[in-house]
Order: sequence, then C-alpha cells, then structure tokens
Amino acid sequence: MSDTLLAFLFPAMLLYLGLRLSAFDKDILRSIWTDFTSLFSPRKLHQDSVLNEPFSIQTSNVAYSSYSSLSVGELSRMRASYASVGRTHKRIGYEIGYTKKLDKLAELIEVNAKVTTGISLVMRRVYSQELTLFHDKSWLATPRENPIDSQCLSRVREALKHFIRDWSDDGLAERAIIFEPILSALSIIPPSSRPQKRVLVPGSGLGRLAYEISQLGYDVTACELSGYMNGAFRFLLDPEATTSICQHNVHPFAHWWSHSRSSTDLFRGVRFPDVLPRLAEDGNVGLHLREGDFLKLDKPKPLTGSASGTPDGYDSIVTLFFIDTSVNILSTLEQIHALLKPGGTWVNLGPLLWCSSAQARLELSLDEVFDAMDAVGFTVAGEDEPDCMKTRTIPCQYTHDSKAMMKWIYEAEFWVARKV
Ligand SMILES: C[S@@+](CC[C@H](N)C(=O)[O-])C[C@H]1O[C@@H](n2cnc3c(N)ncnc32)[C@H](O)[C@@H]1O
Repeated sequence: MSDTLLAFLFPAMLLYLGLRLSAFDKDILRSIWTDFTSLFSPRKLHQDSVLNEPFSIQTSNVAYSSYSSLSVGELSRMRASYASVGRTHKRIGYEIGYTKKLDKLAELIEVNAKVTTGISLVMRRVYSQELTLFHDKSWLATPRENPIDSQCLSRVREALKHFIRDWSDDGLAERAIIFEPILSALSIIPPSSRPQKRVLVPGSGLGRLAYEISQLGYDVTACELSGYMNGAFRFLLDPEATTSICQHNVHPFAHWWSHSRSSTDLFRGVRFPDVLPRLAEDGNVGLHLREGDFLKLDKPKPLTGSASGTPDGYDSIVTLFFIDTSVNILSTLEQIHALLKPGGTWVNLGPLLWCSSAQARLELSLDEVFDAMDAVGFTVAGEDEPDCMKTRTIPCQYTHDSKAMMKWIYEAEFWVARKV
C-alpha cells in the first residue's frame, strides 16, 4: 500500500470511529471529556468522603457500573447449583419452567443495568473531580484494593427498591403512611410563613420526603452521606438523564426469590419517577442537597432578605428511619439540638433498629431515647398540643414488596420535640 493511501486512510478511520462513538455513546464521550476537563478545573468536592470508604462516591460509582457483571456472576452460581441436581430433577425443573426463569433473570439484569449504568454515567459527570482522584495511584496502593463485593451489590439493589418506594405510584401506599404524620405536623405553620422557614432532613435517602416538604412551601435541605443514595437521586434530578414521568423501568424484586407467589410477581417491572424532582438555585427557596455527614454540618446561612446576618439554625429538623443508623445516638441528638433555632422543632418517625452497617456505641430502648432527649435539652409535645403533634406509634413498612408472601411491620415511633 502506498504511503499516500495510508496517509488518507488513517485519518478517515479515526473520523469514522469518532462518528460511530458520537452517534451511539454520547454519554461515554461526554464523561471522557468531563474527566479530561476536570484535570484543569479548581477543586470543589461534593462530599467529605474518604476515597475507598464503603459508601463513598468512588465505591458506589464502581458498584453501579459493576451491577450487571456482579449480577451475572451470581446468576452463574444459581445455574451451577441447579446443574448439580440429578437428571430426573433437572427434567422436572425444565418442565416447570425453572430454566426459563433463570434465562428471564439474565434478561432483566440487562434491563436494570440500563438504570445502573445511567446512574454511573451521571455520577461520572457530576462527581468528575472525586472520581478523577479515585484513579490516582495512591488510592490503588491502599490495602482495600478491590472494594466491590456482594454488599456493594446489595446496596445497588436497595437503591433500586428505593426508586419504587420513593418515586413510583407503586410506593404511594407505603409513603402515605409514613409521610402523612410528618407533613401534618409541618402543616400547622401557615403557608405564607413557610418560605421563611428552613427545614433540614438528615439521612434523606432518595429525597422524596425532603421533596414533599419543599412542596409545602418550605426551604428544605436534604443531607445524605451515602454515594449510593446521592448517585441515584442525582440520576433523577439530572435534566438530561431524567426528562419525563415514568421514563425509567426497573425490576426491583427480581433478585430475591424467597417468598414469591409467582414468577410474574417476582419479575414485574415498575416505572418511575411519578414526578420530576429538581433542585432550587442557590439562594432560592426550594429543595437543596447537601452531600456529606450530617454530624459535620454547620448552622445554615440566613435566608436572603432575612434581618439577621448570623447563622441562627433550622426551624425544623425531620428524621425518618434515621436516628437508629447513628453510631452514637447521643452525638446525633446533640447535633439535632445544636442545628435547631431555640424553640425549633424536631419531627421524628422511625424504629430503633440499631445501626446495621457499623457497631452502634449505644443501643438504647425507646424510654432511654426519651430520657436522653430530656438530658440534651428537648421537650416532647404534650397533651395540650394539637393531635397532629402527639407522640404515637405508626405501624409501617420499609421498601416492601406488596406481592410477597412475607411482611415486616415496624412499630415505628412518631414524635415532635422542641429545643428548649
Ligand atoms: C435507613 S436509611 C433512611 C433513608 C430515608 N430517610 C428514607 O426513609 O428513605 C438512613 C439513611 O441515613 C443516611 N445516613 C446515616 N448516617 C448519616 C449521616 N451521619 N449523615 C448523613 N446521612 C446519614 C444513610 O446513608 C441512609 O441513606
């Protein structure tokens, strides 16, 4: 081949490849570009996460992008288990459709992977700087070289179930039971005063409660530590990734085959979101997201137009299924107290399932929690307060499968307490 022909063919091939990529993988091209530009932009990290911590942006991003391969690995183990039964049992398995069921799971993993890959791509764009740091060689030198394990896969699946509980019509019944007491307690403030009131929701998960409180007219800050939750929430908030109602589809229950009445129930798909959440501009009243540890939060700056120039705290703090995730509940109570204005209210609803991912330093009974609140400086709403403020027990569920042959009911406690 002549040199002239080569000189023509090489750029032509590059151009062809470029066009193919831009046509089919715009997101990948964009994330490569973001990685590149982030090398030259000033550092502004979203989260005070340590690079390879279990809930960091970096670990969760790899977990989301590994969802498909990890799930396929798990499916291979299921196929191998089935392959180990005798010939007669294999024949019965085949006749009752068990092999088809395994094949169906393979298909649905790919459907779910559209969402998990979508989350991972949004994360690469939003957290480009944090993820660039992740590729730094110093991270690879740390002892925990491969942070992705089956626990990471469970956290990704947990996030998929949260899409349903928080952002689909299917989750409406579960949400109604736990949101109603909280929203009623906050509704006693007249609507016209709400834009001047700040509400903090620590441990906000996928953000639906914080969104609903902002819809009442309050200025709301959702605060969440986990990269799994923040990545999934960012996927919904992102105007490019989520543009319309019911745009996405997941099969959130497909991975746990216990307690299912039928494969149809097990493999059913659920569409989300039922509404399109968006963050408010900085300085505007609405929904805000603070990614990081609530225990490290400072009091907020005063709202625009406020007479005072010094930070004076939140008017309300709302905790839902949160306080029992504390490693030290007393630090949590003190921080809620410190961040509230004098007379501010703390609204809580949740169980006491002490910290599942780390050893809680104290595992208090409900009586002891109330005594500790008293010691820290809270008074719980009493008999003279309106009914919607009264302490009561709310039987409820958490990201449950409405079609399963099993129910886990929490006898969650609801209270409103005031900072003395
Ligand atoms: C059981 S989940 C409940 C999430 C949400 N409130 C809901 O009801 O869907 C508790 C959440 O609190 C978050 N969390 C725990 N400790 C936190 C902290 N110190 N700062 C911010 N978020 C925290 C966890 O990452 C988790 O998403």
